[in-house]
Amino acid sequence: MTTLITNIKELLQVREAGIVKISGAEMAILPTIKNAYLLIENDLITDFGSMENMSGLKTDNVIDATGKMILPAWCDSHTHIVYAGNREQEFVDRINGMTYEEIANRGGGILNSAKKLNETSEEEIYQQSKERLEEVMRLGTGAVEIKSGYGLSLEGEVKILRVIKRLSKHYPITIKATFLGAHAIPLQYKENRKAYIDLIINEMLPKIAENRLAEYIDVFCETGYFTVAETEQIMEAGVRFGLKPKIHVNQFNSIGGIQAAIKYNALSVDHLEVMKPKDIMDLKNTETMPVALPSCSYFLSIPYTPARAMISAGLPIALATDYNPGSTPSGNMNFVVATACIKMKMTPEEAINAATINGAYAMGVSDTHGSITIGKKANLIITKPIESYYQLPYAFASNLIDAVMLEGKYLT
Ligand code: NIG
Ligand code: FE
Repeated sequence: MTTLITNIKELLQVREAGIVKISGAEMAILPTIKNAYLLIENDLITDFGSMENMSGLKTDNVIDATGKMILPAWCDSHTHIVYAGNREQEFVDRINGMTYEEIANRGGGILNSAKKLNETSEEEIYQQSKERLEEVMRLGTGAVEIKSGYGLSLEGEVKILRVIKRLSKHYPITIKATFLGAHAIPLQYKENRKAYIDLIINEMLPKIAENRLAEYIDVFCETGYFTVAETEQIMEAGVRFGLKPKIHVNQFNSIGGIQAAIKYNALSVDHLEVMKPKDIMDLKNTETMPVALPSCSYFLSIPYTPARAMISAGLPIALATDYNPGSTPSGNMNFVVATACIKMKMTPEEAINAATINGAYAMGVSDTHGSITIGKKANLIITKPIESYYQLPYAFASNLIDAVMLEGKYLT
């Protein structure tokens, strides 16, 4: 089955094969073709170019995209969308003056979600999670990483990872699973944190690895959660079981988590709201992708990742949603891109690079996702008629998506 899309006003993020991430000053460049065509065979992009050079293409379908732009579907490399229930009460408590930390310290926060998750059946968690996944697909996300971390027990963590696996079998969106047993210390282990870390390393990890339930390992490395030494111990065990680290660091404090993650060759370090100059320096010349989560900063009213300083230092940046019930109950990558432009002073070009090709790198799918490249998945956002792609972040609360195509098929 072949589909030809013609008269595309502008085809965004066109790249040669083999480019896996974009760093520093190069992030300001978004390669595009005006008045373009795009050819799709089954689930893959097989050709594209300027309309002037289009000739002799025989196809089953032709779609006219006059006035519309096409870009690769977003790659959301950091989410926690498999969870039970919501935390609206904590949202209101924060409006009334409590901090995220105060709520966590009284047993709310992650522990609140863990309680709900362990009381909810796997089927019900699947039903709730699939609604969220369908929503983010309609919002233009074509690849998503999903973390466990609301079980905090062997059964709970495995339950989440099984739901992730079931979602990935049923939907055309690419899903990568991350094991985040080290998201918080459960109440019953408060006086014996070593016992919980032993449970992660000696029971959860072997079971998860044996059943191939996750590809990545994550730890919430933060004051009041997991220390740098504990994070290293858990990463070391994860690596032994074949899981690559992707680590929550520097959300509230800079305590050395970045340096630890680099030591274990982490694929990404995520959050980065609080960065010391040394944190930026140490990320230079590494293979670790810094990931910013601006809708988390927005929702919690905490600092934004210092993107300008990082890009000036030559670093790449990826953007992701962090979709979760506590700090970011939204999986809207369009909003993330707009917020990165408005609050982090990223240009539209930098933000689109960060949300597509660099996002793909941060979840290990840049061979197949994140750009308009021959041989990559036909995962596309087709916009409504727009004047320029600046309108995507400019009209920050509008939905400018006309259609989403995943693996060569329109979402209905
Ligand atoms: O990435 N920071 C750690 N974990 C999540 C929030 C978890 C929660 O509040 O439920 C995050 O923001
Ligand atoms: Fe997170």
